[in-house]
Amino acid sequence: MLATLVPRPLPQTARAWEQRALTPDARARALVAAMTADEKFRLIRSDFGLGVDGGPRPEGALGSAGYTPAIARLGIPALQLADAGLGVTNPANIRPGDYATPMPSGPMTASTWSPEIAWAGGATMGRQAWRKGFNVLLAGSLNLQRDPRNGRNFEYAGEDPLLAGTLVGASVRGIQDQHVVSTLKHFAMNDMETGRNTHSADIGARAMHESDLLAFRVAMEVEEPGAVMSAYNRINGTYAGEHAELLDRVLKRDWGFGGWVLSDWGGAHSAAQAANAGLDQQSAGEVFDKEVWFDRPLREAIAAGTVAPARLDDMATRVLRGLIATGAFDHPPRIAPIDVAADEAVVQRTAEAGIVLLHNPDGLLPLAKDVRRVLVVGGHADRGVIAGGGSSAVLGRGGNAVEGIAPTTWPGPVVFHPSSPLAALRALLPQAEVRFVDGRDLRDASRAAGEVDAVVVFATQWSAESVDLPDMDLPQGQDALIAAVAEANPRTAVVLETNGPVPMPWREDVGAVLEAWYPGIRGGEAIARVLLGEVNPSGRLPVTWPTGLEQLPRPALPGLGFDPPQPPGDAIDYTIEGANVGYRWFAARGLEPLYPFGHGLSYTTFAYDDFRVRVLGPEVWAYFSVANTGARRGADVPQLYLELPAGHPTPVRLAGWQRIELDPGERREVAVRLSPHALADYDPDARRWHIPGGRYGVRLARSAGDAGEVRRIELPPRTLEMRIGSAPTAAP
Ligand code: BGC
Repeated sequence: MLATLVPRPLPQTARAWEQRALTPDARARALVAAMTADEKFRLIRSDFGLGVDGGPRPEGALGSAGYTPAIARLGIPALQLADAGLGVTNPANIRPGDYATPMPSGPMTASTWSPEIAWAGGATMGRQAWRKGFNVLLAGSLNLQRDPRNGRNFEYAGEDPLLAGTLVGASVRGIQDQHVVSTLKHFAMNDMETGRNTHSADIGARAMHESDLLAFRVAMEVEEPGAVMSAYNRINGTYAGEHAELLDRVLKRDWGFGGWVLSDWGGAHSAAQAANAGLDQQSAGEVFDKEVWFDRPLREAIAAGTVAPARLDDMATRVLRGLIATGAFDHPPRIAPIDVAADEAVVQRTAEAGIVLLHNPDGLLPLAKDVRRVLVVGGHADRGVIAGGGSSAVLGRGGNAVEGIAPTTWPGPVVFHPSSPLAALRALLPQAEVRFVDGRDLRDASRAAGEVDAVVVFATQWSAESVDLPDMDLPQGQDALIAAVAEANPRTAVVLETNGPVPMPWREDVGAVLEAWYPGIRGGEAIARVLLGEVNPSGRLPVTWPTGLEQLPRPALPGLGFDPPQPPGDAIDYTIEGANVGYRWFAARGLEPLYPFGHGLSYTTFAYDDFRVRVLGPEVWAYFSVANTGARRGADVPQLYLELPAGHPTPVRLAGWQRIELDPGERREVAVRLSPHALADYDPDARRWHIPGGRYGVRLARSAGDAGEVRRIELPPRTLEMRIGSAPTAAP
């Protein structure tokens, strides 16, 4: 009793939590046993690390999204929580001059289809966070792309749960390998921003488990994050932050998640209900929530018996377990300068592997090295590359290359990283004349286009947290600019720097299109090297590219856009597509997109041969060979799709892939184990994954839209045992 009231010094021998040989659970429990009630209550909430209403930041806070003070007598470090998944942020320059390396956007990393590249990006961010003194990075952004208008798609990893979960899981592992806790967020179904603090994402249990929840599960099987951030929105009417089924039942009990669940900033709505539902830590409630629920109201709830005292211990144990399991406890950050050159090399490598060559019918790209006159148009390509806005926005060395574009306040400012594609092109083409026009005057641009050997037009689409895009279109008349330039010179290549898919009314009139996403601080160099063939493009779309809104499950949604004319809807009906997100929707409806999921061209050609599929007990393996049949070294991403038996609600699922780099003439044998998640369906009543059995097709293809080659297999009915931290295995 005394120990819970009066903190007292502890004899060294009692400090069981310092014994590294014990499990993180045992150490965390030993710590909690030594904590007072006040200490526990202090651990289960964070303060806004930037201070209240422009006031001073909390004492000890470095200046970031969240801060929980240390408990020095027990050796519990302060929690310094920093955003986010595209680098370490410095909101409003609160830590003057402390810049970090802006990483490429989430879809760009996903376009590499490379867990190794995703890991390297995570390790880069984790290392920078650690050297800046942060021990929690609010990264691991993993909401599925259900709609190209979602304002935060640039933070996420596309539409497929297996691809997104695998790559984001690898990134989280990269972060945590640096002894920094990563979150996975936003759990779950925060797939649109409009009305995000109130709207209800409505969807059936099975569909949710086979789509958005599956992405989280897959990521957790790669790496268990120290923490999970609950979403803002409601799911089937209940706020994510107090959703007992999702937090307590699915995440903690069914999946065995051992870390802590923290609320999004403004996403906590109650004390007893949230605590009983599984929320473990309230984030910055004094600024963003109606009340600091996890202090006085929770104390009262425990005193009144509506929350069990054991739950408070569980909450504190989970926070500590997350810190201990990731090494954040034993390896506290040490302030040191970041290694700018090494870390920017990771950015460039990611961008070079993630740029997608969408269109190149007559081989305009790569541009010939002896090209004499090139015109670069628009997109502020003379200054830099665009980035997305909101809490994930990272300001890098050199600051903002194009200041003053509205909105200059939240969720802005609009930032261009100082990595000029124009300068990079000029550096690679010393003999050529490379001119630039900003594209504001169409006549001027098309006149100049008529006078050169080749044109590269840059088009940008800014997108940001808290708002959705009003439509899919390129803004500010950029379609008209591209059309005018292409009319003057068909040898026009278009470089898109966008949140995601945009319609291309001019597509048949241009020579080539590259999707360069938001490519990060070395984007200009990466784009130039792909344009000139120094790098052979190998990115593959992690999203389906629709022709336009008419192909989406919800062509019209109320309240979208920067200046919504009407209030947002109260609910978003995701039952329309359910688990059939993206390419599954297109297959189910027989729709032809502009570009299918998985699409991406190369400057070389690849041939597949000897395709076989074997059912080996509980496992299904695909074997084939890949040969580079062209004249350049390059990487390919052969993809395996599972075709479900007739009558199944989902027609097709990505089941595996392999990114493989080959010299001209080189040929390699590949073996890919199909993901058990692609084979199995979720049964919400039995709460288990089950293969109903039957006749399945396995397709080796270049994209979801490619007929490829199909092998048929017979699968017996089977139930899968899956826990996080262990690769899924099939029960006999
Ligand atoms: C975002 C989170 C972010 C948090 C802290 C929220 O608005 O949704 O992703 O981590 O703010 O800045």
